[in-house]
Amino acid sequence: MKYLVIIILLITSGTLWAQSSWKAPDKAQKQLSPLVFDEDMAQQGRQLYSRSCASCHGTVSKNNYAIMIPAPGDPASEGFQNQTDGSLFYKIQKGKGAMPAFEDVYGTDEIWAMVAYFRSFNKNYEQQLMQLDGVEKFNFKTAVAYDFNIDKLVVKVTSDDKFVENVEVAAFVKGMFGNLALGKAKTNTKGIAYFDVDADMPGDTKGNLNFYVKVNKNYSYAKSTVALKVTEPNIPVAVTEGRHLWSPNKDAPIWLIITFWGVVFGIWGAIFYIIFTLFRLKKYKAD
Ligand code: HEC
Repeated sequence: MKYLVIIILLITSGTLWAQSSWKAPDKAQKQLSPLVFDEDMAQQGRQLYSRSCASCHGTVSKNNYAIMIPAPGDPASEGFQNQTDGSLFYKIQKGKGAMPAFEDVYGTDEIWAMVAYFRSFNKNYEQQLMQLDGVEKFNFKTAVAYDFNIDKLVVKVTSDDKFVENVEVAAFVKGMFGNLALGKAKTNTKGIAYFDVDADMPGDTKGNLNFYVKVNKNYSYAKSTVALKVTEPNIPVAVTEGRHLWSPNKDAPIWLIITFWGVVFGIWGAIFYIIFTLFRLKKYKAD
């Protein structure tokens, strides 16, 4: 009984204090993301979140966060969603009490990616963008090729037919289980960025890898997906081929087949023998 009271107290106080008085400073609240939130960012945020945050905050939108005081809360909840982007960003960076500070763990892009992930659970959310008066706007185009001499993916970035220097390009290989990041690189004076590619990466049946590149600067952005023949054709092998435990008998040596069936018959034989003898037992009569 005593424990029950304590547990109830813990839970109720946890929820009461969840609306704790943690406020980000005014200036931080007004901070806006320099990047447009999109699916890629949200996906990156999801990965970071499951690595560093889910242990306390639970699976987003499932309300299964850890029982702590104050409660960590669910990032899909109103408590989170009613805050500004800047406020969430600040709190992730700075931490408070049991909430660790992540400013030395994650770069600003990564923290914004987690905010983008949280916002992906809010249908009513509309991202507020910075006023970018007087800032250069681009009309990005990307050209993607593979250089076999250096085994690198080559991405050329232009805007209105001019090279764009010093802009960050992110490249990925699209796979069955999401995008595999090749990394980020800045374009050189010729507007070209290079990415290392592991040529042993499994491609599709024609040896194509599906590359996905993205440039994102000053809210101007461009993405493109290109299939390039980089690896050897990858012919999928059925799991039942080759020597597996469940493979057809043709691959098994004869002694294994005999032992296997010997054991199977032996065991079933013993079971049937026991059942048979049980039926033959006479009922015990007590008179
Ligand atoms: C060790 C547990 C723990 C981990 C790990 C953790 N948090 Fe928290 N978080 C908390 C707690 C506890 C609070 C409530 C702090 C308070 O209100 O004083 C909190 C609060 C927050 C808030 C503010 C919520 C609000 O209602 O104002 C945000 C945003 C947040 N966490 C994001 C994250 C992100 C993103 C990560 C991973 C990068 C993370 N947290 C990792 C425990 C954790």
